[in-house]
Amino acid sequence: METVLSGIRSTGNLHLGNYFGAIKNFIKMQHEHRCFFFIADYHSLTTHPTPADLHQNVKQVLVEYLAAGIDPEIATLYIQSDVPEVAELYLLLGMNAYMGELERCTTFKEKARKQPDNINAGLLTYPVLMAADILIHKANKVPVGKDQEQHLEMARTFGNRFNRLYKADYFPEPYAFNFGSDLVKIPGLDGSTKMGKSEGEANAIYLADEPSVIRKKVMRAVTDSGPVEMNQVKPQPIENLFNIMKVVSSEDTVKHFDELYNKCEIRYGDMKKQLAEDIIGFTSPLRERIVEIGADNAYLSRVAKMGAEKARESASKTVKEVREIIGFKPF
Ligand code: TRP
Repeated sequence: METVLSGIRSTGNLHLGNYFGAIKNFIKMQHEHRCFFFIADYHSLTTHPTPADLHQNVKQVLVEYLAAGIDPEIATLYIQSDVPEVAELYLLLGMNAYMGELERCTTFKEKARKQPDNINAGLLTYPVLMAADILIHKANKVPVGKDQEQHLEMARTFGNRFNRLYKADYFPEPYAFNFGSDLVKIPGLDGSTKMGKSEGEANAIYLADEPSVIRKKVMRAVTDSGPVEMNQVKPQPIENLFNIMKVVSSEDTVKHFDELYNKCEIRYGDMKKQLAEDIIGFTSPLRERIVEIGADNAYLSRVAKMGAEKARESASKTVKEVREIIGFKPF
């Protein structure tokens, strides 16, 4: 059994790309491994020091993960700032993190360029906090995208350095984990190959989107003037619509429009109407769960408390051992 840990940004709602990408795998993994999922609210302050509504952002992420199927009884689902042990490990690891390596980090350089008036210490030590998140549960598998590889490498560096400096074989090496063939990539509605919020609002369908919004977004999806040759290769934007259809519609539906396309008889308007309805059919139960869970503050409070308790049990054990290894002793 592996220890899997995933840190979730506290901004941004879940879209279909997240759902069929990471989330579906999380839901499966929670039954197979020791899983920790947490909302990285401390980290959000490095770029948004005075968020308009930090609590609401965190709540929305928590609600959507629960609605999608993370089971808080099975996995440990918690909020980073509920586990102060993380801050202590961050402090201790920070003593052995060097200015030079932190400054060389690509994400630091990028963020420093984007917010030249707020190059705060937290931004520089972001990878140290992330290493603390991971090492505190001695996680060995961390599902992250390519953009986080360097942070993972730094977590290994800090863990190994700790082991070496204090002559202890303590922290295991965490490795990035991509789901390989289990990762279904959902394309965007704008013709790009990836659904994501950074590509603009109209590109992504959110689990919480109302049916009317979904219809509008799908009807506006990028297409072309239609096939001109029998069985011609589909250009990217058309291939995208078919690929989305493959995950939300029946096989017969996909086959039907595929045949029309191949015969040059397709009407994109009809296909989009069908696609929109099938997306709505898929997301509606999720949206209803989001609304339901979002209104149940007693439940959310119970979930957060249980998550914090489970996470702190694991975290406090690590911090206690780390303190002993470094040489802090009780009087
Ligand atoms: N840096 C991650 C991101 O931007 C979020 C994150 C914070 C994280 N701590 C983590 C991811 C620990 C994995 C493990 O997406």
